[in-house]
Amino acid sequence: MRKLIVAGNWKMNTSVAEGVELAKKVSDYVASKNLPAQKQVVIAPPFTHLAPIAQVINADKVILAAQDCAATTNGAYTGEVSASMLKGLGVKAVILGHSERRQYFKENSEILLKKIKLALAEGLDIIFCIGETKEQREAGANLYNNVIKAQLVDTVFTLTPEEFKKVIIAYEPVWAIGTGLTATPEQAQDIHAMIRKAIADNFGQAVADDTTILYGGSCKPSNAAEIFAKKDVDGGLIGGASLKADDFAKLIDAR
Ligand code: 13P
Repeated sequence: MRKLIVAGNWKMNTSVAEGVELAKKVSDYVASKNLPAQKQVVIAPPFTHLAPIAQVINADKVILAAQDCAATTNGAYTGEVSASMLKGLGVKAVILGHSERRQYFKENSEILLKKIKLALAEGLDIIFCIGETKEQREAGANLYNNVIKAQLVDTVFTLTPEEFKKVIIAYEPVWAIGTGLTATPEQAQDIHAMIRKAIADNFGQAVADDTTILYGGSCKPSNAAEIFAKKDVDGGLIGGASLKADDFAKLIDAR
């Protein structure tokens, strides 16, 4: 079933105490709303916050996600956190392929596919981020459509249809992340429709119709409803505005 999802990617923000308070507020808000089963709220706090937050949120109302996982299973990998460790904490999903991981930590499709496989082996859902840079956007639709398609072809399109059911796509134009620039609703719709068509070409129309495709990039209460109203936009992956409980509540209501 295609879900409507509002997900908060907290990135490297908040102290543990602040994060626990924010998570509690989000959980209480969602609990007060009685959302339809099709609509889901996800929060992705930093690793250090996951265990205490798992204790305070209502796991039936808010899905706990991590922002990354290791490309290897347990062992001598200093500093890494494995998918199985995350699962043990009550984490249900993991964000992979975020442009900040691609840019600053040199994560390529080969590494990402390893992470995807390990997360799937633990039964985690994947929020898989794709999107073009400013330069690629300026080079024209032919180029940026191909960039986005290649990000899919080399990774999640190699999965079986059964595995792909665990994948949520997040279209995050790099030029709109944390910049205050937002794709127009029409720009977002065009890319989301292109992504859904690529999924249909790879897995068939039924799988494409069931796939949740989120928009991310300077989504805020003032612009979300218009973007989320587009036919192929199934919600948002929110950075900055997910750090304020009031703003995040408005974003939950916008979808
Ligand atoms: P902003 O909403 O802060 O632009 O971040 C978007 C994002 O990167 C979500 O993963």
